[in-house]
Amino acid sequence: MCGIVGYTGHRPAAEILVGGLRRLEYRGYDSAGLVTVDGGLHVRKRAGRVDELAGLLAEQPAPGTCGISHTRWATHGGATTTNAHPHLGGDGSVAVVHNGVIENYAILKQQLQAEGFVFRSETDTEVIAHLIASYLEDDLADAVRKACTRLKGTYGLAVVSPRFPGLIVGARLGSPLVLGIGQHEHLMASDPSALVGHIENVFYLQERQICSLTAEEWTIVDADKAPVQARTQPINWDLGDVDKGSFAHYMLKEIYEQPTALENAMRGRLDDADATAHFGGLNLDAQQLRRADRFIFTACGTSYHAAIVGEYLFEELARVPVEVEYASEFRYRNPPIDRNTIVLAITQSGETADTLAAMRESKRKGHPTLAICNVVGSSIAREADGGVYLHAGPEIGVASTKAFTSQVTVLAMLALFVGRMRHLSAPQGERLVRELRGLPQLIRETLTCDEQVQQVARKYANVRNALYLGRQYLFPVALEGALKLKEISYIHAEGYPAAEMKHGPIALVDKETPSVFLIPRGEVFDKVMSNLEEIKARGGPVIAVASTGDERVARKADDIIHIPEAPDYLQPLVAVVPLQLLAYHIARLRGCDVDKPRNLAKSVTVE
Ligand code: AGP
Repeated sequence: MCGIVGYTGHRPAAEILVGGLRRLEYRGYDSAGLVTVDGGLHVRKRAGRVDELAGLLAEQPAPGTCGISHTRWATHGGATTTNAHPHLGGDGSVAVVHNGVIENYAILKQQLQAEGFVFRSETDTEVIAHLIASYLEDDLADAVRKACTRLKGTYGLAVVSPRFPGLIVGARLGSPLVLGIGQHEHLMASDPSALVGHIENVFYLQERQICSLTAEEWTIVDADKAPVQARTQPINWDLGDVDKGSFAHYMLKEIYEQPTALENAMRGRLDDADATAHFGGLNLDAQQLRRADRFIFTACGTSYHAAIVGEYLFEELARVPVEVEYASEFRYRNPPIDRNTIVLAITQSGETADTLAAMRESKRKGHPTLAICNVVGSSIAREADGGVYLHAGPEIGVASTKAFTSQVTVLAMLALFVGRMRHLSAPQGERLVRELRGLPQLIRETLTCDEQVQQVARKYANVRNALYLGRQYLFPVALEGALKLKEISYIHAEGYPAAEMKHGPIALVDKETPSVFLIPRGEVFDKVMSNLEEIKARGGPVIAVASTGDERVARKADDIIHIPEAPDYLQPLVAVVPLQLLAYHIARLRGCDVDKPRNLAKSVTVE
């Protein structure tokens, strides 16, 4: 889960590399480094953030118009300067930066040590550097290709050598690598955000391909050294997408981008005339969708919570049974799946290793395998049989927000689409289309609760534990609210179906542990109200997310956050917003690094 940036051209490389690393820092931020080639290798690396590296470069500039760089999320060896990338091979004949995990590094290390190679770090990556050095003759790309044949695991690699000035060689298996195609300059990066503003066109390197970049040329060969005719595509991001603008953090910017993100997710997909939704990229005919008698949704983290909301939506609106699977479990559990099952992978980044593997497992078993994904050209998007892009724009804050609401919106539209093929009447479809079209405005209204949330955040910023409680459509939102608080404020929090409390968790209730109740008006309001009373009866403080003007809840709760009314099936999209804001403001009050929380990274490309 690291970030790689490479540049070769006519401009000073170090500055461009550091700028790119800043854009990729959400992928890993425990140490950073770079190497430029200019009459030799100029290695600069430091434990800590990219700022530390920039500080070192101010003292010791790295000359040259060609170089590679890295920001790290440690997998092997602590977050130290020695373990930071790049790593040198042999006597410094090659330098390597790597994103991924080499599973057979220990055995390769022994073999290389037996051949006299000296290891300086605890990383798996240094094995790659020495391996390439061991194959290096007069063709750097070929040495990389040969080395890759001995690697087990995942890699996105960038390699330079003082013997081949101006040349960068890249390779990938399992980890993303995108090339930036410019005029008299070429770049590579782990994702396009590092390339924005430098080039217009990109090429997504495919599995087992090897690229060679110089200032004037770029070539691709496959694992058998056969040339690849590569077609570029326009980079679909712009500077506005990757900068914070006037917001203090990307997470807050992305929370406030949700109304527009939902408009983008719905654009051109809702059909008033036929009272349904349309998707251009599913690649499944109506017969296959009608014949499907079960869906399996598989995902990780926040996307998994969106999948659970999707389960409720599909079972209510499309009357199709859905199973929701943690991708990391699904890929090894090997459940019996009958023929008419469609598997749907849900992911923001499109690079999450467990979700990618779960999808490949499903395809291997011959099930139609779709994906809902945000990043265009990502591995999951390219390998799925079909799918739906979120069009939510880049999500840079590690804590996912707008991707969650966009995923739920797309799942609601998919349920409408499948439902209209089965039992949903045109009038029912029309109501759903109308209500979905009203969502962006509903979210805009909900965002006005920010002030109220800040007051509540100030009151509870120093708690050690918290409980999030909801029922039906709001149970997965309770899970999501708890995850948001955990991942950015480091407060221990758990989400539960509200009625589950009396089967054990209610023992956690005391006056220091607030319970966040999701209790807007709706079908299960009274049930949730009695669960709320059970907590109050045991002296637990209650923060209620309730419908605007709801006096009954206001009389019982210690603190209340009002949200606009919405139909039950759309409440997850409204009720999650104050929970995103609550986690954000509590984390900010606790001085946490909201966009780069400890121990986390935006896309988890290792198992
Ligand atoms: C959510 O805030 C986290 N960043 C994490 O749980 C994330 O949702 C998970 O890693 C899945 O990522 P994906 O949607 O990119 O596959």
